[in-house]
Amino acid sequence: MKVLIIGANGKIGQLLIEQMLEDKQHVPLAMVRKEEQAQRYQFQGVETVLVDLESSVEEIAEAARTCDAIIFTAGSGGSTGPDKTLLIDLDGAVKAMEAAEQVGISRFVLVSALGAEDRNRWPDSIRPYYVAKHFADRILESTELIYTILRPGGLLDDAGQGRVSLQTPGESGSIPRADVAAVIAAVLDNPATFRKSYDLVSGSQTIEEALPRA
Ligand SMILES: NC(=O)c1ccc[n+]([C@@H]2O[C@H](COP(=O)([O-])OP(=O)(O)OC[C@H]3O[C@@H](n4cnc5c(N)ncnc54)[C@H](OP(=O)(O)O)[C@@H]3O)[C@@H](O)[C@H]2O)c1
Repeated sequence: MKVLIIGANGKIGQLLIEQMLEDKQHVPLAMVRKEEQAQRYQFQGVETVLVDLESSVEEIAEAARTCDAIIFTAGSGGSTGPDKTLLIDLDGAVKAMEAAEQVGISRFVLVSALGAEDRNRWPDSIRPYYVAKHFADRILESTELIYTILRPGGLLDDAGQGRVSLQTPGESGSIPRADVAAVIAAVLDNPATFRKSYDLVSGSQTIEEALPRA
């Protein structure tokens, strides 16, 4: 599958593309917003498209046109305000969904955040962030796209452990970004994860054990 990675220059995005280049199961198309980011990927032989999520649905759709799937792992980050959270984590994600629909891509993997489905679990300090994640998830769940939503706990830069907990709702915890990237790659063509949403933290099972089977 050729896969548009939205947020390709992000920490998870970079790990995911690294993994895809190693596995050779899928071909990444890196969506980035700066020329120097594109050049770095091109140097590694990765195809790129330069598109900002604040641009139009049509531009995102044009970028995705040759792809079979979209992975959305972008986010406005902790150093911007709620305005950017709304524009990227919510509207950016929804525009990516609309772009997928426009060009007939059905497979869509969204990186959300642990607890996004339950307002009682949203920390006061980052409530607007959770609002954005919650409604992006809900809108995706209401589409006809073949989605998988992954809701990781606190992200760590530690080496991947390859041990995760994928199912248990209400769980708290953290997880290395490398393990999130590995789970994204593993769910991509696993039909048992289609139209499902999962909490994702470090756990005791290997990724293969933790993933449902069709
Ligand atoms: N931090 C946590 O503990 C935590 C927990 C659960 C879930 N998450 C979620 O996990 C996801 C990935 O995390 P991460 O650590 O990989 O994030 P990250 O390193 O901050 O990467 C986010 C990416 O989004 C891109 N982006 C931001 N605004 C954009 C725009 N206007 N157009 C196009 N791309 C844009 C950034 O581009 P640039 O590189 O150009 O800035 C960056 O590459 C995010 O959705 C985050 O909310 C985070």
